[in-house]
Amino acid sequence: MLRLITHKDIEKIRIWRNNNKDAFFYNKVISMKEQAKWFKGYLTREDDRMYMVEYLGKDIGCLGFRPFGEHIELYNVILGNKKYKRQGLMSKALQILLKIIGSKVVIRIIKDNKEAVSFYTKNGVGHDFSIWLESRAGRT
Ligand SMILES: CC(C)(COP(=O)(O)OP(=O)(O)OC[C@H]1O[C@@H](n2cnc3c(N)ncnc32)[C@H](O)[C@@H]1OP(=O)(O)O)[C@@H](O)C(=O)NCCC(=O)NCCS
Repeated sequence: MLRLITHKDIEKIRIWRNNNKDAFFYNKVISMKEQAKWFKGYLTREDDRMYMVEYLGKDIGCLGFRPFGEHIELYNVILGNKKYKRQGLMSKALQILLKIIGSKVVIRIIKDNKEAVSFYTKNGVGHDFSIWLESRAGRT
């Protein structure tokens, strides 16, 4: 259900990210060139992992983790195909990821993103997982 992304996935992920940009602190549209640059850097960072979420052979979303100070932060958590919304599939993917990471996991969320707050609150139970609510103000 989770597989590490490869180069062929990055355009799909870019589109999903742009479609959901208001959920993220960095909310500018990401160009193909910027995405290619990100992926080039990503390949050099062994502790940075981005996964595709597959369901019945289809790519439906993505999520990743990377170091953040002494923590590991989740990032780019997106249900790309909204047809599968609220079916528990991203929760399953997150549960798998939390087991892979183990401990000291954080997610930084824009505090107005109520569905994400609820999503992480529900899924963090039983894990060493902190939710940091932040305001968009002051961030670019
Ligand atoms: C957050 C996101 C990945 C959740 O996807 P999903 O398909 O709803 O995930 P699941 O079905 O596994 O989880 C559902 C849970 O999420 C929360 N949730 C999802 N949509 C919600 C909504 N519209 N209102 C309130 N809570 C919501 C609830 O806790 C829900 O549990 P419930 O159905 O038992 O009430 C998806 O909404 C998304 O891609 N959002 C845009 C990007 C984003 O905000 N990413 C996180 C940035 S930090």
